Amino acid sequence: MTTTREILVTSALPYANGSIHLGHMLEYIQTDIWVRFQRHTGNSCHYVCADDAHGTAIMLRAEQEGITSEQLIAKVQAEHEQDFSNFNVSFDNFYSTHSPENREFSEYIYRACEAKGHIASRTITQAFDPEKQLFLADRFIKGTCPKCKTEDQYGDNCESCGATYSPSDLINPKSAISGATPIQKDSTHLFFKLPDFEELLKQWTRSGSLQSEIANKLAEWLDSGLQEWDISRDAPYFGFEIPGQKNKFFYVWLDAPIGYMASFKNLCDRTEKLDFDHYWNKNSNTELYHFIGKDIINFHGLFWPAMLHAADFRTPTAVYAHGFLTVNGQKMSKSRGTFIKAGTYLRHLNPEYLRYYFAAKLNNKVDDIDLNLEDFVQRVNSDLVGKVVNIASRSAGFISKKFNGQLSSAVSEPELLNAFSNEQYAIADYYENREFGKAIKSVMALADQANQYIADKAPWVLAKQEGSEQQVQDICSTGLNMFRMLMIYLKPILPIMTQDAARFLNDNLAWSGLNTPLVGHSIEKFKPLMTRIEGIQIEAMLEDSKVEVAKELALKEKQG
Ligand code: 2FM
Ligand code: ZN
Repeated sequence: MTTTREILVTSALPYANGSIHLGHMLEYIQTDIWVRFQRHTGNSCHYVCADDAHGTAIMLRAEQEGITSEQLIAKVQAEHEQDFSNFNVSFDNFYSTHSPENREFSEYIYRACEAKGHIASRTITQAFDPEKQLFLADRFIKGTCPKCKTEDQYGDNCESCGATYSPSDLINPKSAISGATPIQKDSTHLFFKLPDFEELLKQWTRSGSLQSEIANKLAEWLDSGLQEWDISRDAPYFGFEIPGQKNKFFYVWLDAPIGYMASFKNLCDRTEKLDFDHYWNKNSNTELYHFIGKDIINFHGLFWPAMLHAADFRTPTAVYAHGFLTVNGQKMSKSRGTFIKAGTYLRHLNPEYLRYYFAAKLNNKVDDIDLNLEDFVQRVNSDLVGKVVNIASRSAGFISKKFNGQLSSAVSEPELLNAFSNEQYAIADYYENREFGKAIKSVMALADQANQYIADKAPWVLAKQEGSEQQVQDICSTGLNMFRMLMIYLKPILPIMTQDAARFLNDNLAWSGLNTPLVGHSIEKFKPLMTRIEGIQIEAMLEDSKVEVAKELALKEKQG
């Protein structure tokens, strides 16, 4: 007997100061497919997320727009939720880090760390904007590169010659916010003593469930010695004030991952029978997974497990990192129109196309994934429309017209159907291991077999021959049973197409259905389940993206 696993899954929390773009969508689609697969195969799987609402960038953006930070994050959250829902990302809860639950957990975890002696306090000297009365992070200082003398370079590296340096090395440094010359100013900061957790982290990273690239990276950091982590920021700052301190706030990266807990707590409070402690207590046998991009491994692989451990919560079962998205082999570019926002994509194309394409390219490695737009069109059209839908459209007409929508009352090709259902173990393993590209490869190999079978049997020829009725019904019933199994396999990837196929087949397309073909079953009239992508839609989307960029620029200029 297999037992039902209890799984909690998160995707990284998007910042509440910008739109969701296709780079973000790679992660949400990857996570959503995995989550839907777990539910499809009978596991209990909760999927939570939230907007990452704190920090200087959000505070400044709100100021620029002439609204409060609270207004900005509410507006952005509504847009994010709309995008995710349109891409059919099946969150159980989408919340905000600017929430009472998150404040409570952040204070609780901080106090637990403090009580156990894991917080240090010392004075540091930092750049300060005397006009704005604001401490300046490196990226808010600009000046002339000390090496190649290019003007207008950021505080930590030069985009022109690639040199890295500290902001104090810049020639003629200026605050990127006010243009004032920064001064040096002292302030007391609080530090989380990460080195206290070296042993724990060494153990956790060797637990075997991390990707080897991640485990190696973490080992490198662990071997070169851990540093204390600055977790406080001075006012003005949009965030939570640190208990017991005046005018000091938690650094956004402290309360961001705690937002995973807060979102889940908020879900538990609204859901009978869902118990927060059951998932987060330190001896929990539930599973906890964080899907993230490769750029935020340090936060999730070091600080986060250490903080959880310090406050006596469980640590994650695994952190799964993915690479970045490139478009046509290059970094997404605003001038080429390849910096594509989720909303822009959706104005031109079906979300399932992208879900399918990303799935076809995804594996469990940290490599970057390329969205090649020509390949995208070709792949979706030939796999989904040309192969999968084709099986149904070639079989359905005869069943509707000649057999009143009734499938044969017995299976005529048991071996062929068994071969299809026997693939379930390999395909399930691929999904479980986030090898979605391999899952798709297996499914498409089956689709080829199905098309070959129909082509060989040519029911359209038999249909014209007297006395071949039973054969025609059997062939088309076999065709539709094969199509049904392909849709069961693709359900985590294509939720809408499967919903339509379920209606057409009068069947819920459950995973367990793989073992029981449809016999003597009546189906509905066939309607096309997916249309081809036309090149013109891609061109229109790229143009639209350029218009979006121009609009944003104009707005920025207007706001000064
Ligand atoms: O890198 C980012 O976009 C962050 N907003 C991710 C936060 S993930 C989690 F820790 F909250
Ligand atoms: Zn330079």
